[in-house]
Amino acid sequence: MFNLILFGPPGSGKGTQSENIIRAYQLTHISTGDILRDEVSRQTALGLEARKYMDNGRLVPDEVVIGMIGAKISENPDTRGFIFDGFPRTEAQAVALDRLLAGHQTSIDLLLSLEVPEAELKERLLKRGRISGRSDDNEAVIAKRIAEYKEKTEAVATYYDKQSKLKRIQGDLSIPETFGLIREAVDSCKKAV
Ligand code: AP5
Ligand code: MG
Repeated sequence: MFNLILFGPPGSGKGTQSENIIRAYQLTHISTGDILRDEVSRQTALGLEARKYMDNGRLVPDEVVIGMIGAKISENPDTRGFIFDGFPRTEAQAVALDRLLAGHQTSIDLLLSLEVPEAELKERLLKRGRISGRSDDNEAVIAKRIAEYKEKTEAVATYYDKQSKLKRIQGDLSIPETFGLIREAVDSCKKAV
C-alpha cells in the first residue's frame, strides 16, 4: 500500500490535485471536508453538529473526524492506498491516524505540503465563493480558516517532518505544473519504499 497525505492551507489545491493523483495512481480518496459537507447536506445529526463549526471556519472536534476516518479505512481493505485530503489537521488527529493505519499493518509514506502565499489563497477562495458558492468561501470565514490552520494544523507538518516524511511542493504554479512536482515526489518516494 502507498498512503499519502495531501496537506496545505485552505485553497492550496488539495481537492484539485487529489483528482489528478487518484487518476494517476488509483488511490482511495478520503476528504474529511467532503464527508462533512455530505453529512451537512443530508442533515444528519453529525452534519447538524459539524455545521456549527464549519460555518465559523473552526475545526470540527477531533473525536468526530477521527471516528469518520476509521470507518473509511476499514471499508477499503483491498485498496492500493489512501490519499488523505484535509486530514489530519491537528497533532491529535495525526497520532490517531498513525495508530489506525498501524492496526491495518500499514503507515503513512509521504506528506506533500502545498505551499501557496496567503494573498493567493484568499483570491482563489473568494473567486470560488463568487462562482460555485461554497458557504464558507466568504471573507470573514476564510480569514478564520487560515487562522485555524496556522494555530492548529501547521504542527502536523512538523510532526511528519520528524518522521522524515515531509516534502514541500510549490503550489502557486499552474495546476499541471504543480501536479508535475507532485508526480516527481510521489514517484521518487514509491521507488524508495
Ligand atoms: P475542507 O473541505 O478540508 O476545506 P479547506 O481545507 O478549507 O480547503 P479547501 O477545500 O477550500 O481548499 P483545497 O486546498 O482543497 O483547494 P481546492 O483544490 O479546492 O474543510 C472545510 C471545513 O470542514 C473546515 O473549515 C472544518 O470546519 C471542517 N473540517 C474538514 N476536515 C476537518 C478535520 N480533519 N478536522 C476538523 N475539521 C475539519 O482549490 C481552491 C480553489 O483554487 C479552487 O477554485 C481551484 O479551482 C483553485 N485552484 C487550485 N489550484 C490552483 C492553481 N494551481 N492555480 C489557480 N487556481 C487553483
Ligand atoms: Mg478541499
